[in-house]
This record gives sequence, structure tokens and C-alpha cells, in this order.
Amino acid sequence: MKLIHDVQEMQQTALALRRQGKRISFVPTMGFLHEGHASLLREGRRQGDVLVLSIFVNPTQFGPTEDLDRYPRNLAGDCALAEACGTDIVFAPTAAAMYPPGFQTTVSLGPLTAPLCGASRPGHFNGVAVVVTKLFGIVQPDIALFGKKDFQQLAVIRRMTADLNLPVEIIGMPIVREPDGLAMSSRNSYLSPEERQQALCLYRALLAVRELFERGETSAELLLTAARAQIGATSAAVIDYLELRDGITLEPVAQAINGTLLALAVKIGSTRLIDNTVLGEE
Ligand code: PAJ
Repeated sequence: MKLIHDVQEMQQTALALRRQGKRISFVPTMGFLHEGHASLLREGRRQGDVLVLSIFVNPTQFGPTEDLDRYPRNLAGDCALAEACGTDIVFAPTAAAMYPPGFQTTVSLGPLTAPLCGASRPGHFNGVAVVVTKLFGIVQPDIALFGKKDFQQLAVIRRMTADLNLPVEIIGMPIVREPDGLAMSSRNSYLSPEERQQALCLYRALLAVRELFERGETSAELLLTAARAQIGATSAAVIDYLELRDGITLEPVAQAINGTLLALAVKIGSTRLIDNTVLGEE
């Protein structure tokens, strides 16, 4: 496995591989890897000739009061997991190389970024869109894998890739959970043991809605009331958003159907966690 820090070296390596007819699989991450990331790497390994992982804590997708400075990092541990998953190249650029003086270009996104995380984190998806576009230009992937854990991010990247004719196939991968249901996340490392238990209210809310829906309840209002009750039972949990939306357009819905998205963001202490489920799937 090769570790590349230099942007030009990564791009030249990728272009040479493409000229040799190699199919490049790409998994973009911010590091501090866990089994969720590993599932993307394993599928990327299966689908491509060369597997590239990027590790870059992208400053432009963090708001001024967010956790950029304390975002967890562990390059050595990440490289060990990456190697075990069959990664060929780890690309870990610096922020100075990704955003040199004079950098000024943005990607203009549409209504998909208005609700949910787009509403609570202004500018977040813009930062994601710019860095993913740059990474696609540097890594030259044939396919790129993203987790459904960040459902809106996947929707935005699919839309952008289609709208801008980026020659990359986007693959969405299932949410990987801890045995007790908590969705894996690098940010789970912020949780104290007590908060780790409290964080289970997100999964309980998803389960409550899935169960009611499976029993025939379709009223968004009633389904959301059941979800809110689960979060409300944990006094330390504060809802940022909790919504049922169309799984494609992310428009609000009054009645849930198969394919409706339940998405939530909840703060446990100072840690903001997100989770989601698509009704009638999995
Ligand atoms: P990061 O949070 O490191 O996540 C990298 C990828 O792993 C994303 O596609 C995310 O959806 C996926 N992932 C995270 N937890 C997962 C889980 N429990 N199950 C399945 N997949 C999971 O998302 C980002 O980084 C950044 O925004 C990035 C796309 C790299 C742009 O900076």
C-alpha cells in the first residue's frame, strides 16, 4: 500500500493507471476509520482494479462553531485498517495543498441542500461538493462509494455528478451499526460511556417508526410523534431535526409510503449525531 500526500503525485499516478486501463475505485473519507468505512473499502476492492482511499478533514465543510479542530485523527490506525481492506493507495493531502492562496471556486447546489443537515449546517454541503469534485479530479475514479449514513450527502453527490456529467459511477452503501444499533460514526468517539447509552435513542426512534409503519400507520404526524417520544424519553437528548421526507426529492410528506425517508439529527451533550432509515427497505 502506498501513502501519497502530494496532490500532483496522486493525480499523475491516477492518470497513469487510467492509461493502463485500470478501473479505479474510490472511497473519500475524513479518517478515524471504523467498520462503516471498511464496508465501503471492501466493496470498492471487489469492484475495481485499484482501490484509493482519501483521508482529508475538509475545513470548508465545517461551520465556524463546529468541531473541525477536535475532529478525531489517527493516520497510523487508518492505514492499518485500509491495508487490511485491500487498499492500494491512501491519499492524505494537506489543507494548504487543497486550498492554496487564491482559491475561490464554489459549486452552486439546488433545493436538495435546503432541508435537514443543509438547514442546520449552512454552507456544509457546499464544502462537501467542492471537495468531492476536487477529489474526483485528482483521483480520477471510475466508481466512488458513499454511505447511506449520510443520506442527504449521497443524494447531493448523486445529483451533482449527474448534473455536471462527472464520469464517475456513484455507489450507495448500507448503514453499518454497532451490535446495539448505534450507527457507526467517527464522532461516536466524543461520547462518554453514559452518553453512549443515551445515543441509543436515535435507533429506538427509527425502530418505533418502522414498526408502526409496518403495522399500517402512514400518517407522518403520528409516526413523528412516536419517534419524538423515544427521543423525549432520554432527557439529555435534544432534537435538531426529525423529519419524514420523500426519499428522492427530500420534499416533506404528509403520508409515508415505501421509500419515504425518516431522518434525524440529535444532540447528546455537545455531540451531534445523525441517523436515518428508508421505510420499506432493508
Ligand atoms: P466521513 O464522515 O469520514 O465518511 C466517509 C464515508 O463513510 C461517507 O460516504 C459516509 O457516509 C460513510 N460512512 C460513515 N459512517 C458510516 C456507517 N456507519 N455506515 C456506512 N457508511 C458510513 O462523509 C464524509 O466523511 C465527508 O463529508 C466526505 C464525503 C469525505 C467529504 O469530505
